[in-house]
Amino acid sequence: MELLMRNMFQSLGKNTSANKLAKKYGLRFGAGRFVAGETIKTAIEAVRKLNSEGKVVTLDHLGEFVYTEEEAQESTAMCIQTLDAIAEAGVKSNLSLKMTSLGLDISREVCMRNMRKILDRAKLHQNFVRIDMEDYEHCQITLDIFRELRQEYDNVGVVIQAYLYRTEQDIADLNLQKANLRLVKGAYKESPSVAFPEKKDVDDNFKKIIKQHLLNGNYTAVATHDETMVEYTKSVVSEYQIPKEQFEFQMLYGICEDIQDKLVKEGFKVRVYVPYGVDWFGYFMRRLAERPANVWFVLKNLLK
Ligand code: FDA
Repeated sequence: MELLMRNMFQSLGKNTSANKLAKKYGLRFGAGRFVAGETIKTAIEAVRKLNSEGKVVTLDHLGEFVYTEEEAQESTAMCIQTLDAIAEAGVKSNLSLKMTSLGLDISREVCMRNMRKILDRAKLHQNFVRIDMEDYEHCQITLDIFRELRQEYDNVGVVIQAYLYRTEQDIADLNLQKANLRLVKGAYKESPSVAFPEKKDVDDNFKKIIKQHLLNGNYTAVATHDETMVEYTKSVVSEYQIPKEQFEFQMLYGICEDIQDKLVKEGFKVRVYVPYGVDWFGYFMRRLAERPANVWFVLKNLLK
């Protein structure tokens, strides 16, 4: 049953018509628990609140299914606007983005052009941009583009997913560039030909790459709500005396706030991933797929 629901949410999240419909009708079904509103104003308010709780943020202007250059330019403009708003408000946040929203599916050139515009603006504001990792189909090109951009910019990082078989090798390769990485388990539905189907194997690989990247001496953002992984990271940094400036924990907006607060109290750096924008549906479906128990929360909101 749980697997069925996971598959259903993952498919719905990829459905263009459902996404378009959701965009038209606005934040619904309790999605506001996971998405900080539809405008930059509401997003900045959320950042301020999190900052006041001792957490830093990464803002993501949601945007999926971009197929024209015009749409890609609009998304680029929104990323730039987000960077400007962060600077203007003086809040502690960097930017996360998905390259498909910048035209990755149109051409590598379009995406590169847009990425450079965003990274130039981020550099101007002395800010940092994290490239989210999407489905396996986009993995190689995302890493290729990251590598090229990394030679020109030091304010860019990328995400690596523990569920992929290729990941250990990717971490070794990315060490050559001293890459700043966010490590995650992985949120997309992937074939067993490319990704570990069993949770235990994903968890084992996650631990392996957390240690590998930290011991390589590179900046590591451990992005998880899994307390076992959090505790594991704490044990590695303590055993190998990894300085606090070399790592941070990251969690999603509205999820496991108790663990976030506990880590802040313990003196760890915690960054909350705060998505906002009208294109909330795909993101919301991925969160439901991760934890079908969230459905009860959605149903409760439907009955309100
Ligand atoms: P796991 O799924 O084992 O969950 C552990 C516990 O956390 C659960 O038992 C539950 O208590 C809680 N939990 C997890 N997900 C929840 C949810 N949706 N709602 C409520 N509780 C939940 N993925 C990707 O492919 N590309 C990317 O770029 C990113 N970026 C990213 C940034 C940040 C800051 C985070 C935290 C995560 C991502 N992810 C991601 C998502 C990631 O791959 C993964 O799908 C989720 O983090 C869930 O996995 P956990 O590590 O939390 O463990």
